[in-house]
Amino acid sequence: MAIIFNKEKKTFSLHTAKTTYQLKIGNLDYVNHLYYGATIRDDDLSYLIRRYDRGFSGNPYDSLKERTFSLDAQPQEFTTQQQGDFRISSIEVQNSDGSFSFNGRYRSHSIYKGPFTLEGLPVPFATENDTVDTLELVIEDSITNIQVTLLYSVFEEADIIMRAARVHNAGKDTVHLKRIMSVCMDYMNGSGMDLISLPGRYGQERQVERQPLTHHVHKIRSGRGISSHQQNPFVALAESEANEDYGSCYGFALMYSGSFVAEAELDQYDQCRLVMGINDRQFSYAVRPGEDFDTPAVLMTYTHKGLTGMSRRYHDFFRNNLNRSKFIKDVRRPVLINTWEAAFFDFDDKKLVEIAKSARDMGVEMVVMDDGWFGKRDDDNSGLGDWYVNENKIKCGLHELVRQINDLGMKFGIWFEPEMVSEDSDLFRAHPDWVMAIPGRHAVRSRNQLVLDVGRKEVQDYLISSVNSILDSANIYYVKWDINRAITDLWSNALAGEDQGEVSHRYVLGLYRIMDGIIKTHPDIMFEGCAGGGGRLDPAMLTYFVQYWSSDNTKPLDNLKLHYGSSFLYPVCTMGAHVSEASPMVPIETKAAIAMCGTFGYELDATKLKKKEIRTCKKMSDLYHKYYDLNFFGDYYRLSDPFTPVNLVAWETVAKDKSEALVTVVTVRLTVNGPQEYIKCKGLDRDRHYRVEGDGEGHIMSGMALMHAGIPVPREVPEFTSFLYHLKAVDR
Ligand code: GLA
Repeated sequence: MAIIFNKEKKTFSLHTAKTTYQLKIGNLDYVNHLYYGATIRDDDLSYLIRRYDRGFSGNPYDSLKERTFSLDAQPQEFTTQQQGDFRISSIEVQNSDGSFSFNGRYRSHSIYKGPFTLEGLPVPFATENDTVDTLELVIEDSITNIQVTLLYSVFEEADIIMRAARVHNAGKDTVHLKRIMSVCMDYMNGSGMDLISLPGRYGQERQVERQPLTHHVHKIRSGRGISSHQQNPFVALAESEANEDYGSCYGFALMYSGSFVAEAELDQYDQCRLVMGINDRQFSYAVRPGEDFDTPAVLMTYTHKGLTGMSRRYHDFFRNNLNRSKFIKDVRRPVLINTWEAAFFDFDDKKLVEIAKSARDMGVEMVVMDDGWFGKRDDDNSGLGDWYVNENKIKCGLHELVRQINDLGMKFGIWFEPEMVSEDSDLFRAHPDWVMAIPGRHAVRSRNQLVLDVGRKEVQDYLISSVNSILDSANIYYVKWDINRAITDLWSNALAGEDQGEVSHRYVLGLYRIMDGIIKTHPDIMFEGCAGGGGRLDPAMLTYFVQYWSSDNTKPLDNLKLHYGSSFLYPVCTMGAHVSEASPMVPIETKAAIAMCGTFGYELDATKLKKKEIRTCKKMSDLYHKYYDLNFFGDYYRLSDPFTPVNLVAWETVAKDKSEALVTVVTVRLTVNGPQEYIKCKGLDRDRHYRVEGDGEGHIMSGMALMHAGIPVPREVPEFTSFLYHLKAVDR
């Protein structure tokens, strides 16, 4: 059992393979957080909490004259409201009498096997190799009878603890949640901690920022209705000495695809509190008597093995526990070519077949028909919402087009943007009230499109049936599901005025329902997510999509940074990455080596390539297949940081059994007559020998030599040369 309750000491110890998390029913039945870190078995760690008379930090009334017990200075699992704790909070609830108060104390708990589930929200599943136990701990405000169940599922082998909270109104009156966080994590000593996040922008997603905690609230958020290009719902706290290989790191990844917030506060006593959950901006949710409200889940991990150790936990977990699609492990994903950067809106069935014919010689196995095949869609001003084939372009009809592509021995993929509508569309003309627009005001246009009120059931049903009818009309192998704007004008014509604070969250719940109705009902189709690139890449989306288009920016050198940042959380097999015509000065081999740091494909007009280029692409497509297992299932190591002024950017994937590895090196800067540089491998078996393919000489070197002395990288080479070193263990 991964969860142990010590009745006498009133402690709960949650054990993963290498970590322990401990909490306790403490003084006055408040639930204290005691510890999260390396395994400590079942020691009661309440000795860590000392009490002092803290001036201006009040004491709960029933602590009587005891002035040393202040919630402002106690580590808690979930905060109260207006009980003298002035730090950032887990909950803000407005009670029916207008007061803002919540005084949650222990009421009951239960422990059971298997992970918790959440109403309408995605959570990971347990595989047959996982031992998972769940603790549900209920705290209650005895005046309002608002209960909050703190949910903890312990994925023992994976070293992941999943948390969430469920609010239940056991009282007689409706209350309004103004803020409800999924996780609250208190550290008695937060000085010397850094906060790591993945900020970015359109075309430059998931860059890396690391800053020391100082005495204020650090806030990472998206208020854009999508998890966003600007921030990813992931943060890590790492001790300042932590590097890739050593040091304590705590990861927090929120399984949510809408507006979110993560706040970290270093308080007056150098205590640190981190909370994460749905963004509370424009949020107000009515919980009526008898009703529940579930927060999304947060996946937490701890390791003292540095940032690589943290990323490893997430990579393995995302590959094993998020998505049951056969395309995760059982069926190889084909090399694809996407028509977008080749033709934009200007294509017809003949052009697609021509592209397919040329692309076949490049080793391409699937053609993806991107935006522009439906409704009246000749540019981005019209047609969204009309999910029927534009027969002026696809003159032979979709079924026949797919047949022709299939006859070439290739698979066929198609693009949708279900959540959006153009004002110039049949859908908008029929249902103008289905868009998000505040009465009496013009809605913000973005890319000249409006947002459907996806929280509405009739909108969900329309989208499920119209998209499904296309999917069922032809032999479609792949879908790219896009969203090309942020969400504004939060308003639903289906809700009363006082309930409009629910719109943003209802949108996300509605979206998950639509995806359940389309994606989960088509297990033979491979779904890739997209949001103008990676604007809604998050762990929740990966329960639906096996991969996510990482960025509209296909410039290979920019992608070095983007892949580096993404790799903090996301494994290679989830990152859509293509070779395109962008950056003509970079050789195709290097573009392909970088795209192999993702799911690999092409985004160009194959009919315009020269024969030599086609041959190079074929060689690289073959390499993608050769290294597929290594790249998709191996352990990933960041070998250099492209955000620092390096000459070489390098990364490595090592097979789980250490029998082989692939080291990729890209020359990003040439220094004239400069020093010899070496790339030191990681994660190899120190006692085995490896043949080094790719250095021209086929050296056989020990794991020790490769890790401690490294591989000398040739320096007199053309700009942007890349090297793929394949290390294969040999018996000597
Ligand atoms: C977004 C996507 C692109 C392409 C276009 C089509 O920008 O990220 O890859 O699909 O939409 O409109």
